[in-house]
Amino acid sequence: MAMNHVVAVPHPGRGHINPMMNLCKQLVSKNDTILITFVVTEEWFGLIGSDPNKPDRIRFATIPNVIPSEMVRSKDLLGFMEAVATKMGAPFERLLDQLEPPSPSLIVTDTFLLWAFDAGNQRNIPVASFWPLSALAFSVFYHFDRFLENGHYPVNFQESSHERVNYIPGVNAMSLMDLPPPMMATKQEILKKTFKMFSWVPKVQYFLLHTTYELESQVIDALKRNLSKQIYPIGPAIPYFDLGDSSTTFASDEDVNYLRWLDFQPCGSVLYVSLGSFLPVSSAQMEEIAAGLCESGVRFLWVARGETERLSKVCGGKGLVARWCDQLRVLCHPSVGGFLSHCGWNSICEGVFAGLPFLTFPIAVDQFPNCKLIVEDWKIGLRVKEFMVENMAYLVTREKISGLVTRFMDLESNEVKEMRRRAKELQGICQYSTSKGGSSETNINSFIRDVILSNSH
Ligand SMILES: *[C@@H]1O[C@H](CO)[C@@H](O)[C@H](O)[C@H]1NC(C)=O
Ligand SMILES: *[C@@H]1O[C@H](CO)[C@@H](O)[C@H](O)[C@H]1NC(C)=O
Repeated sequence: MAMNHVVAVPHPGRGHINPMMNLCKQLVSKNDTILITFVVTEEWFGLIGSDPNKPDRIRFATIPNVIPSEMVRSKDLLGFMEAVATKMGAPFERLLDQLEPPSPSLIVTDTFLLWAFDAGNQRNIPVASFWPLSALAFSVFYHFDRFLENGHYPVNFQESSHERVNYIPGVNAMSLMDLPPPMMATKQEILKKTFKMFSWVPKVQYFLLHTTYELESQVIDALKRNLSKQIYPIGPAIPYFDLGDSSTTFASDEDVNYLRWLDFQPCGSVLYVSLGSFLPVSSAQMEEIAAGLCESGVRFLWVARGETERLSKVCGGKGLVARWCDQLRVLCHPSVGGFLSHCGWNSICEGVFAGLPFLTFPIAVDQFPNCKLIVEDWKIGLRVKEFMVENMAYLVTREKISGLVTRFMDLESNEVKEMRRRAKELQGICQYSTSKGGSSETNINSFIRDVILSNSH
C-alpha cells in the first residue's frame, strides 16, 4: 500500500504541541495510508515520547536541544521566541533530508515557524500552516500594522485605554485593553520579526485553524476574503476522542483523589481553577487568588503546579489543590460549573467543549484578545483581570476575586443562569462540529482528500 507521508512540526511549547498532536491523531485515524513524522526537540521527546495513546503511524523524530532548558521553562518569553526563530531551522532541514522513505508529500507546520516554510519551499514540498490559537488572535496579529498606523500601540493608558476600534476585518468593536500586553512592544526587533512571520501566511499553500467555524465565523469569513485561499477550521483539537477510554488516564493516587472528591460535590457547584502550565504568576498574586477563593466560600478545584502545599494551607477545607489533573475529564465532570482560566486557547476550547462559563484571568499575548471573545462576543464569562497593565506588579485583589467568584457561582442569579445557558448552547455547536457531517469533521476530511492524498507522489 502506498503511504502518504506527512511531516508535522509544532512550535516547542505545550500549548502548540498538544493541538498539533491531536490533529495528527485525527488524520491518521481517518485514513490508514497516512504516516506522520512528528518533529520535536529531544527535551520534548522526553516529556511526550511515552504517550500511551499515540497511534503507530505517528512516529517521533527529534532534533537536538538547541534551546536552553531554562528558556523552554518560560522565564524569558522573548528570548525563547528568538531562539525558536533562529536555532531550530538548520537541524530541522538536516532531519528532513535524512528521513526514511517514502519522501514527504506535505509539511504541516505551526504558523510561528518561518523556517519550516523555507525548508519546504526549497525542496518543493507543499506546506500547510497550522494556527494553534483563536482566529480572533490571528486577525489581531495579522492586521497589527493598523494599530501602529493609528497610533494605538502600545496603548496609552491615560488617553486611549477605553477607546474601541473597529478597523480589524471581521472583528466587532474591540477595546484597546484587549490587545496583547506591551511586553511584546518593549523589544521592537521581536515585534518586527513577529510581523514578518504573519506576512508569510498569504504565501503558504494551505491554512488550518484550530477553531470551530461557527464559533468564529465572522472573523474566518473576513480572513478568507483577505487570504483568498481555502481555510480549514478543524478545531477543537483537544483530546475528546480519548475521553471515553478510562484506561488512558494516568491513574495515580492523586487522580483518584480529585475525581472521587468531585463525585461527592453537588452538581455544577465546583469552580475549576487553572492558570496554565507555562507563564509565571507572581506568588503575591497566587496568594490573593487563594485568599479570594477561600473568602468566596465556593467549592473549587485548583491545579497549581509547584505550589500545592503552600496553597492548600491557605485554602482550608472547601477547595482541593492538585499538582496536575486530566483537565478535559475534570471540566466534563457534572460537579464542575465554571472555569477560572488564564484563557490560553486550548483551555478555552476544552471549557467550551464541556459547556462551561469562564472567569477570565489573562496573563500574556493572545490570552487578552481571547477574553473579548468569551466576555463580549460569546457572553459566557466575567472578567477578573480586566485589562493589560503596564505595571506587571499589578495585583487583582482578594476582595475583587472573592466578590466575582461568589457572583459567578451563584446558581440562583439570572445572570449566571443565562451565562450557563449560553455556554451549553456553544457546547452544542462545538460538539456538533466534531461529529459526522459537522464543519470541523468535514474540513478534516476535505483536507485529507484535497491536500494530503492529492499531493502524494
Ligand atoms: C484512504 O485513502 C486512499 C487513497 O489514497 C483510499 O483509497 C482509501 O479508501 C482511504 N481509506 C479510508 C479509510 O478512507
Ligand atoms: C489583507 O490584510 C493585510 C494586513 O492588514 C493588508 O495589508 C492587505 O491589503 C489585505 N488584503 C486584502 C486583499 O484585503
